[in-house]
Amino acid sequence: MNWREACAIAFSILVGNAFAGDSIPASLTGAKGDPARGRAIVANRQVGLCLLCHSGPFPEERFQGGLAPDLRSAARLSEGQIRQRIVDSTKLNPQSIMPAYYRSEGLERVAPAYRGKTILSAEQIEDVVAYLTTLK
Ligand code: HEC
Repeated sequence: MNWREACAIAFSILVGNAFAGDSIPASLTGAKGDPARGRAIVANRQVGLCLLCHSGPFPEERFQGGLAPDLRSAARLSEGQIRQRIVDSTKLNPQSIMPAYYRSEGLERVAPAYRGKTILSAEQIEDVVAYLTTLK
């Protein structure tokens, strides 16, 4: 076990059953997302900003990031593991530079208009999860 896994397990013990290890198995909305909408969110430079850091199968996007793994690497992850990484990747890697897309607690220096809001909505998270699971 490496320290990331150890942290993920320690966290899951702390919070009880809400998270199973490094995975959030249940849909945040109770429904499946839409992969086509998810792809649009991932490629969008205003909403997802994923391509600032990641690359992926987007031949139409000229500039893609090299700071993070190609998104096709998500193929080895389960749907729940993908969901956890988008909701809050700092649960697995406290040093992660990836924004927590569905967390509103514990953030610093948040402008008043954005306080208590998440970057993506639960529906948008599920759309992105649905898209990334098609990359398998
Ligand atoms: C500021 C840079 C940044 C942005 C923006 C970003 N990520 Fe990441 N992401 C990372 C880094 C770095 C990692 C590698 C693990 C870590 O350090 O947390 C990662 C890991 C991941 C992983 C796990 C990959 C693997 O193979 O384990 C997934 C899935 C992922 N990101 C999806 C997304 C999606 C979807 C978006 C947009 C909604 C996004 N990321 C936006 C930096 C970023």
